[in-house]
Amino acid sequence: MIILVGYATVEGQTRKIADAVATAIEARGDRALLFDITSGGEYAVAHPEAAILCAPVHAARYPAAFSGFVRQEASWLNSVPSAFVSVSLLIRSEFEEEREEAMHFPDALISESGWRPAMIHHAAGALRYTEYDFFKRWIIRRMAEVENAPTDVSRDHEFTDWSLLTRFVGDFLAAAKA
Ligand SMILES: Cc1cc2nc3c(=O)[nH]c(=O)nc-3n(C[C@H](O)[C@H](O)[C@H](O)COP(=O)(O)O)c2cc1C
Repeated sequence: MIILVGYATVEGQTRKIADAVATAIEARGDRALLFDITSGGEYAVAHPEAAILCAPVHAARYPAAFSGFVRQEASWLNSVPSAFVSVSLLIRSEFEEEREEAMHFPDALISESGWRPAMIHHAAGALRYTEYDFFKRWIIRRMAEVENAPTDVSRDHEFTDWSLLTRFVGDFLAAAKA
């Protein structure tokens, strides 16, 4: 099976997650077509038979280019088995209501695009303090303080659970082939 792994990223964590999704697909003997949605490139030539899209939450929304892609491709996405990996920080919160909020990030995208992914996985992202500019580092550190996330800006902090992600890909492939 050829599976499109389409992603958008701002700081690189979702690219890493999409890479891990592609590796998990290939490890099971299928073919992954890794595609940076913001590249403006062409993916249709390889005729994927399923899709897993990955996007990060920034200021409570997904990147505009990602939402645009989903809107444009919704009818194709609905015609094949498809899944969504939503990447956020809130999903790792110790507070249930914040995790609940993170679970609802995809709602607006789904209702405005008409895409109906069969499965959704919520992956925790990363804080890349060493790569933020001064203002972003300050804002994110304040946000981290409020959310009880690490505030040590001298290093990056990664929260992605790679084994959960790999299990999700396995479950999706099993369902897609059933
Ligand atoms: C400017 C900025 C805004 C963010 N806003 C949110 C947010 O509203 N909710 C959330 O759960 N995570 C938020 N995050 C955390 C990101 O989802 C997390 O850092 C993720 O790993 C980013 O993925 P990327 O590296 O692929 O861009 C924000 C991060 C940044 C840098």
